[in-house]
Parts: sequence; structure tokens; C-alpha cells
Amino acid sequence: MNSPTQNLLIDARGLHTYYGQSHVLRGIDFRVGRGETIGLMGRNGMGKSTLLKTLMGLVKPRGGKVHVTGRDMTGCAPYEIAQLGIAYVPEGRGIFPNLSVVENLRMAARPGTRGQRDWTYERVLETFPRLAERLSHGGQQLSGGEQQMLTIGRALMTNPDVLILDEATEGLAPLIARDIWRICALIRETGISSVIVDKNWKHVTQLTDRNVILVKGEIVYEGTSTDLQSKPGLLSQHLGV
Ligand SMILES: Nc1ncnc2c1ncn2[C@@H]1O[C@H](COP(=O)(O)OP(=O)(O)OP(=O)(O)O)[C@@H](O)[C@H]1O
Ligand SMILES: [Mg+2]
Repeated sequence: MNSPTQNLLIDARGLHTYYGQSHVLRGIDFRVGRGETIGLMGRNGMGKSTLLKTLMGLVKPRGGKVHVTGRDMTGCAPYEIAQLGIAYVPEGRGIFPNLSVVENLRMAARPGTRGQRDWTYERVLETFPRLAERLSHGGQQLSGGEQQMLTIGRALMTNPDVLILDEATEGLAPLIARDIWRICALIRETGISSVIVDKNWKHVTQLTDRNVILVKGEIVYEGTSTDLQSKPGLLSQHLGV
């Protein structure tokens, strides 16, 4: 079927994205279905973040289309894409350092696109007990792991249909990283779709339905986790493991 369909939350086709003269995404098709968890992998500089930014409207593609829930959102502003239920946790996070944990969470609160209010302030704090202990702390007083929890918590407060997580556990201590993986699994169970970028393919493939590997702005592999796990050659060639 060629026309973008509504049951695809994100349907991007033929994306070409540049930074100046530098041609980074070279014809990418990328889809996210309802309830799907997708791993996006590839070595440094292969275009993972650029793909996510292109989907979010942070970078405009020179070619191709981005449909979100059946609407052509190519060239639209990030907030317009977010309003269609797409929450984005960028690399290096992006909490408001001068606002407290409570303020960061409260200001993000809104019902989802179908009016769903599954993720409340209370539920986010139950999910992240470490944040509950630091409610009045300013964003800048938190550890890297706590900041990541706060960014994910804030994304959940928008009751998204898709959560996009760039470098889910980058730079985090192993115990904290484990907690982030636990939360990703929980998010998956609640039926929210996610796109997860992370260097740790073992954790990623334990969680995902489908995986995409990028090399120099092109998709070189797409397959289920079982399939990818059974291809050590591919993992070493494209992920260096
Ligand atoms: N703002 C920018 N201006 C110019 N070039 C950029 C910019 N952002 C990224 N690039 C370049 O685009 C290419 C893809 O970068 P991107 O950040 O998308 O890769 P990535 O797969 O997310 O890498 P990493 O694993 O290091 O996060 C790289 O060559 C990078 O140097
Ligand atoms: Mg990146």
C-alpha cells in the first residue's frame, strides 16, 4: 500500500537531510506503528540523531515526506509534531536547569491525542522514586541519571503515543542505566510506541520488536530482534561489537 495510513503513527519516506552542503540522510524510509518498539542503531555519526531530528521537525529535509498519524507534517514546527503525540528526549537531555523537578514535570502535563491521561504526576513519581526524593531540586542539581529520568518523566507527562529516546543510557552508571531499561520496558507494556537509540545493542534488542541499522545515512539492515541477535557478523560490521 502506497498511501500513508493512519495506523502508522510515523511514516517517513525518502528522507534526504543536509547540513549545508553535507548530505547526511540519503533516502530513508522509516515507520512507527502503534505499540511498536523500534531500535535505531549504527556507529557514531551515521545519522541516527539527524533522522530523529528530521522526524521531529528540528531539521527540515530537502527531500522526502514525514507523515504523522496520516498528516503530512513535512516542514512543520517541532511543537506541531509534538502535539500529534510524539515526545522527544534529545541526546544530552534538555531539562530546564533553573526549574525544580516539580516544575519541570508539572509544566509538561497534558492529556494525549485521544484524551488519555494515563501518565499523571503521581504515576511518574511512582515510576521514578529517585525523582520523588528530589522534588524541589533544580534541574542542574541532579545527577546525569536523574536528569535522564526527569526528561523521560516529562515526556511521559505529555501522554504521548510515541516516545523517541536518543541515547537512552549514554554516560550513565550501570545501575542507573538498568533502571532506564526497566522504565523502557514498562513504557512498552503500557502500549506507547518507542524509538530507542542506544549503543548497547543487547539491551536494545531485548526490548524492541524491530531494529534499524544506519550506515552513512542509509538503512543497511531492518529486522526483528531475534533475527539481528542471530547475525553476529552484521553486529560486528555495523556496530563494532
Ligand atoms: N548541526 C550539524 N551541522 C553540521 N553537521 C552535523 C550537525 N549535526 C550532525 N552533523 C554531522 O552529520 C552526521 C550525522 O550526525 P548524527 O548526529 O546524526 O549521527 P549519530 O548517528 O547520531 O551519531 P552519534 O552516535 O555520535 O550520536 C555526522 O557526520 C555529523 O558530524
Ligand atoms: Mg546521535
